Amino acid sequence: MSLTLCNVHFTQQPERIVWVSSPLAKLLNLNGRKTINVKLGRDVVPAIIRTVKRKGHHLFLSAGLRRSVRIPKSGNVYIANADNEEIQLGPLIGVLTDGSRTPGAPFGPRTGFVRQLLAMGQKKAYMFAFTPRDINWQQETVHGWFLDGGGGWIRKVVALPDVVYNRLPSRRAETSSAITSLREKFVKRQIPFFNWSFFNKSDVYTLLDKDPEALRHLPESVNNPSSENIKELLEKHQFLYYKPTGGSLGMGIYRLTYHPRRGYFVRYRRGSSNVLLRFSNFPSLMKMLRARHGVGLSGYVVQQGIRLIEIDNCPIDFRFHMHKDGSNDWVVAGIGAKKAGRGSVTTHIKNGGQLMTPEQALSRTFGDRAGEVLREAKDVAVRLSESIERNYSHTLGELGLDIGIDRDGEVWMFEANAKPGRSIFKHPALKEQGRASLGYILDHCLYLSKFRKKDES
Ligand SMILES: Nc1ncnc2c1ncn2[C@@H]1O[C@H](COP(=O)(O)OP(=O)(O)O)[C@@H](O)[C@H]1O
Ligand SMILES: [Mg+2]
Repeated sequence: MSLTLCNVHFTQQPERIVWVSSPLAKLLNLNGRKTINVKLGRDVVPAIIRTVKRKGHHLFLSAGLRRSVRIPKSGNVYIANADNEEIQLGPLIGVLTDGSRTPGAPFGPRTGFVRQLLAMGQKKAYMFAFTPRDINWQQETVHGWFLDGGGGWIRKVVALPDVVYNRLPSRRAETSSAITSLREKFVKRQIPFFNWSFFNKSDVYTLLDKDPEALRHLPESVNNPSSENIKELLEKHQFLYYKPTGGSLGMGIYRLTYHPRRGYFVRYRRGSSNVLLRFSNFPSLMKMLRARHGVGLSGYVVQQGIRLIEIDNCPIDFRFHMHKDGSNDWVVAGIGAKKAGRGSVTTHIKNGGQLMTPEQALSRTFGDRAGEVLREAKDVAVRLSESIERNYSHTLGELGLDIGIDRDGEVWMFEANAKPGRSIFKHPALKEQGRASLGYILDHCLYLSKFRKKDES
């Protein structure tokens, strides 16, 4: 298989003809052919093929041809030939998200990210965004949103994509039967779809339950704990986190501590302030949690608390933004360190947390050893990602790991996010890593859509 970038031009002929510049024809082994199948997404159309004397890798597509294969635009894109019968343009990459009525922002608050990603793909692939409503399953087409080159949007009907990057934003909608059947329709057509869905905390702990290598880095956790479970774990660790399994942004999280002489302490966030309560005995602590969350305490996980490294008495944790690259390997694309706001149970920025670089965060505690601790943490993050993927039955290409490092330099994972936010990349020192992260998404789409050279399989 040959793979290269080529420059696509449009001509006006009504017939289906493709002109190939001679160096490109030579590379793709097309010399002497009279006809060829031209493929984009799942559309394949036979065309007359001719070579033109011109330097470089150029392709001239007639109006008749590009209408029937639904080529969305001219410009640079990859061209591949699996055999001598067919040339494939693309890849056609669909970014699945949700729409909004906000003028100028068709995908609401996600619009900026979608725009950046599409801009990154513009000179290499046909990349578009779409919402579930934009798919026509009967005709197997999508009414996609492309960048128009001037910062605006242009709608085009194209074939079903070669690969789908899922950024549907709603946890709840994603469990609906409509979205479940949408995903199954892609899978049935063998169109790679990543990531499958949001993770629940308990899903990830269950997934890794039989993976000793990963378990070493998970705080001890119990899903849907009974009050006996909580009591036992409190006596064992003196310090627990109590978290909603489907939660995010630190909502509904409690920090429980036990001092044999002073009793039980609970910290949590209420509105915009931090609350600290003390109970002299365990039953009254449980009474409070039940009053707030019902008798069953279901949908919660209780977890061993980790004594994180601190700056000025405020705990610090890390977001490791992980991607699969063009060779299908996990890489750390960017790391943000987050210092908790004073008295806050979590490090979320909106609860007073502060973003910094990992080097800043680690050098205070570890001094000269900071580099070594960071290298080890990166290694662990790659291995944890591999473990999650190994134990998961769907395609994964991106993860946001919430990682803690304790005072001994041990690495712990609190949760894995399958649709990680991108707020760490707002830090001026992490902008470059943010761009790299977009590059990995594109590279991995190339990998999944099989736009790769033979020796890279
Ligand atoms: N077991 C734990 N030990 C110490 N800190 C924790 C623990 N679990 C969570 N945290 C802190 O709370 C934050 C939020 O927890 P996380 O599990 O990521 O929930 P959320 O889904 O709300 O982001 C973490 O980033 C970390 O700062
Ligand atoms: Mg988190």
